[in-house]
Amino acid sequence: MVDVATTTDVRRAPVSISVDPAADTDRCTASTGFVVLADHVAGGWREAIRGGTRHGLYTPSASIMGRGTMKVAAFNGSPKRDGNTARLLGYALEELETAGIETELVHVGGRPLQGCLACQKCFERRDRRCVNDTDEMNGFIETMFEADGVLLGSPTYYADVTSEMKALIDRAGYVAGANGGLLRRKVGAGVVVNRRSGGIHAFDTLNHLFLISEMVVVGSSYWNVGIGLAPGDVDADAEGVRTMQTLGRNMAWTIERLAGQEGA
Ligand SMILES: Cc1cc2nc3c(=O)[nH]c(=O)nc-3n(C[C@H](O)[C@H](O)[C@H](O)COP(=O)(O)O)c2cc1C
Repeated sequence: MVDVATTTDVRRAPVSISVDPAADTDRCTASTGFVVLADHVAGGWREAIRGGTRHGLYTPSASIMGRGTMKVAAFNGSPKRDGNTARLLGYALEELETAGIETELVHVGGRPLQGCLACQKCFERRDRRCVNDTDEMNGFIETMFEADGVLLGSPTYYADVTSEMKALIDRAGYVAGANGGLLRRKVGAGVVVNRRSGGIHAFDTLNHLFLISEMVVVGSSYWNVGIGLAPGDVDADAEGVRTMQTLGRNMAWTIERLAGQEGA
């Protein structure tokens, strides 16, 4: 193998690209398992591959645009860490992990989080942060911005999301918009639990963030609403569980296919 190019991936980690001159000249290999996106200078075509090897014309200007390990951050808007919302999110996260996608479950419910102050400072500073540093919100926002996919989960409170989830939506959404669209083309989905009704309205609230942020919203075989009152009730909602599992698989499918398409 002969090293023919060195570049960096999106995390700025060094990656070398090599070819085997004795073998098929149509092959190039990256030193990591990262997704390689090679732009052919003359033809202008490109192809994303996994596993470090691709078939097709090699060009020394190949650049590493994608990542081998994609990540989904799930935000639980319930004050209960092992309540129904966390469980529903868990069903989707299990499928994502099975597909090789890294996941993180972040509990925002029950945390002392302020709503948006409407100070517009994020539009002045454009530093990817909310100027209000008196709570944990900036950590949550950073986790959201770093993820490839975002799951927002909330119990239904008076036919809407919890106040902590709404604070996350308002502040993360505003900071993302102030900084040129930091959620653009991330993959998103909402997950809701209700005892009886109002869940579809809460689901709408979650989707509002995704859709105004130019995110790619993933669906399932039903709207992503589970039924339950006491913690653990949702486990008995077989259709709700299936809906979340399908959602997780669809999210993984979508994220994998979008990998390496940042320039598109
Ligand atoms: C303040 C409050 C308001 C609620 N409002 C509704 C509602 O509008 N509709 C509904 O079906 N359930 C409502 N519920 C029930 C919760 O949505 C339900 O218990 C849910 O399973 C809790 O999820 P968790 O275990 O993740 O916290 C409400 C519960 C609370 C505490």
